[in-house]
Amino acid sequence: MQPVIVQNLSKIYHSKQRQGLFKSSRREVHALKNVSLEIREGEIFGLLGPNGAGKTTLIKCLTTLLLPTSGRAWINGYELTKEDDAIRATVGCMLMGERGLYWKLTGRENLVFFGALYHLPPAERKRRANEIIERLNLGEIADRTVETYSSGQKMKLAFGKALINDAPLLILDEPTNTLDVPSARELRAMVRELNQEGKTVIYTTHIMAEAETLCDRVAIIDKGRVIASGTVAELKESLGQETVIRLEGVIPQQASEAVRELSGVSQLAVTAVNGHNLLTIVTPNQQHLLPQLIHTLTTHGAILRNITPQEVTLEDVFIAHTGRTLAEDTRE
Ligand SMILES: Nc1ncnc2c1ncn2[C@@H]1O[C@H](COP(=O)(O)OP(=O)(O)O)[C@@H](O)[C@H]1O
Ligand SMILES: [Mg+2]
Repeated sequence: MQPVIVQNLSKIYHSKQRQGLFKSSRREVHALKNVSLEIREGEIFGLLGPNGAGKTTLIKCLTTLLLPTSGRAWINGYELTKEDDAIRATVGCMLMGERGLYWKLTGRENLVFFGALYHLPPAERKRRANEIIERLNLGEIADRTVETYSSGQKMKLAFGKALINDAPLLILDEPTNTLDVPSARELRAMVRELNQEGKTVIYTTHIMAEAETLCDRVAIIDKGRVIASGTVAELKESLGQETVIRLEGVIPQQASEAVRELSGVSQLAVTAVNGHNLLTIVTPNQQHLLPQLIHTLTTHGAILRNITPQEVTLEDVFIAHTGRTLAEDTRE
């Protein structure tokens, strides 16, 4: 059985928009547009996309917190909107990070409380809470109120909360979002370990490297649509003959615009790094383009610091499809 099947799922948010003091208008945000996915048993499936792509909306729909506008989905064989209780019982979920915890309760009390929401019998709740505390190394802080925790400790507990019902499917929405580098690495190691024990994992992120290192298969999502999906290798191969050149330096806008006009440039994205600009260029013909590129940039006033032909990354797949980088916020 496929743990998750999603068919043509769409979600439209209706929100009021204030216009002046007394007037307001209705606004529609199409957060998901005909999303279809299949997730296989035992895999770590990544949902990669920039802020505003629709990742959280999709996770909220799949965990029954939000009603989709149209489309169908089956989670662990149960149909969404028809068998929601059964879905909730078979999914462990981390959403909203630390905001999903009760700060006036201790870590242990939080776990026991959420165990009760899953209708675990009292002895079972306690046993599961103990197991999670041990597994995540939370022993020293488990009996302190959550408000005294560091941000990293709160995130760890929020992760532990997703394990309380020992569900076969774990859905984690940007679990490393506020973590420092070592804590993020530790959390990913735990995700791998749980996966090796047989759990299927859905993992959302806007960080390309996380998806590359952690996930068996990835769906790249942008503005509510799945624009590409497959294994990391398949996605990279989907660029075919295209290669990537990165140029760093002080690059005025007119220079990058001139590059955009060159015939060998199939996509171009500009990012700012420490007062420099970074141009990422996708091209089918690197050898031919490079001299032209340097000429065009320098005649338009660019000062180049660094030029590196690069191996294709998942981010480049995103750039090739959208002309934007993953760092760009697309929230409406
Ligand atoms: N409650 C809401 N009402 C209106 N628009 C929303 C709401 N929640 C999210 N959105 C919009 O829906 C889009 C997708 O958001 P979200 O699912 O949070 O993306 P992601 O998790 O990938 O950053 C964004 O444009 C966002 O601004
Ligand atoms: Mg989100």
